[in-house]
Amino acid sequence: MPLDKLEEKVKKNLNELEEEGRLKGEELVITGIEKSSDGNAPRYRIEGEDGAFLKMNSNSYLGLHLNEEVVQAEEESSERYGSGPGAVRFIHGTYKPHVELEEKLADFHDKESCVIYSSAYATMTGIFRPLTSGETLILSDELNHNCIINGIRMAKPKGKDIYSHLDMDSLEEKLQDAVGNYERVIVVTDGVFSMRGDYPDLPKLAGLARKYDSEFEDGVFTVMDDSHGVGAYGETGRGTTEVTGEDGIDLIVSTMGKALGVNGGYVVTRKAITRYLRETSPFYIYSNPITAPEASAAIKSLEILDSDRGRSKLSHLSEMTNYFEEGLKNIGHEVIEGPHPVVPLMIGDTKETKRLVKYLKENKILATAIVYPVVPQGDESIRFQISADHTREDLDYALETIDQF
Ligand SMILES: Cc1ncc(COP(=O)(O)O)c(C=O)c1O
Repeated sequence: MPLDKLEEKVKKNLNELEEEGRLKGEELVITGIEKSSDGNAPRYRIEGEDGAFLKMNSNSYLGLHLNEEVVQAEEESSERYGSGPGAVRFIHGTYKPHVELEEKLADFHDKESCVIYSSAYATMTGIFRPLTSGETLILSDELNHNCIINGIRMAKPKGKDIYSHLDMDSLEEKLQDAVGNYERVIVVTDGVFSMRGDYPDLPKLAGLARKYDSEFEDGVFTVMDDSHGVGAYGETGRGTTEVTGEDGIDLIVSTMGKALGVNGGYVVTRKAITRYLRETSPFYIYSNPITAPEASAAIKSLEILDSDRGRSKLSHLSEMTNYFEEGLKNIGHEVIEGPHPVVPLMIGDTKETKRLVKYLKENKILATAIVYPVVPQGDESIRFQISADHTREDLDYALETIDQF
């Protein structure tokens, strides 16, 4: 049979992944969400499990995926435009909500223009190839997200190199070495690094790009993936640029599938570049966009985010993050501190991390084990993600449970 040999090989590969501790295994199947009547966070029902769970592993930092107005905007739009996009935009035509969303995202980031894609992953992999010439060097933070790594691979630049995590001296060394060898340099970084909740010194990073720009024929430009920053970070949710006070990042990529509670990705930058991407970017030209109803839902999320309500959600999120971090420290745990709602509880041992995650699940709390080889041995942690839906009561329950482990 044609697939017999391949089946044997992939089963062997799966066994190897299991032996190395890298198998992700069975996924939880969510069968329902119960909104609470007492003001606490919603609880999740899981197939095969009794009771309902407190979710501390969601990227929906503001809880907007359950917001009634967002859901209603999506429903009304699907009444009007149907469910799927029909085809890619240059063939089928662009729906009004796509255009409106792009305008609103560009305004939100104070950039000239925006292109939306089906996901942030597709955005990142979609932008490198068109923007990479045969004489380009791409410099990337060593802990950048997988979409950046694969985007660079697909772009096949003349040169690629990684600089040490957040280390601007390391980046400057690479820029110095590149002078005379390349015409164009792209510096790419995550905004908030999702495993750790840390972020780059953007004024320094953008400053280095400006400093070395004149040394290269096409200059040095910066790209940042702020998928975990936008809507979660900064007083008005503008992410890492807001927190660091640096607005000179040339292309900002983000997702609508995390804090905005919907789906899809986008890039904001100058208008000439977005025009060029629409003409040349494979993931834009050959892959469907998000649906019109998704675009309508994202418009509503953005409207909520960029209002007093959004700001009060962000302020509550920040307060809850601080409360949880302090709570963990008070019961004797080590955390990677910072204002971002990703709160890594450092355990430093794979078995112990998995044991604690299992114990939390037995006590109806969902959190994520980050273990070797995803992180180096000794850096194993549990990643808790705080949401604006969490209350002190929810977090007290989590802290008491952890304390009794
Ligand atoms: C930094 C970063 N970029 C991109 C993505 C992918 O986002 P999307 O689901 O929209 O493709 C993620 C999600 O895990 C991420 O953490």
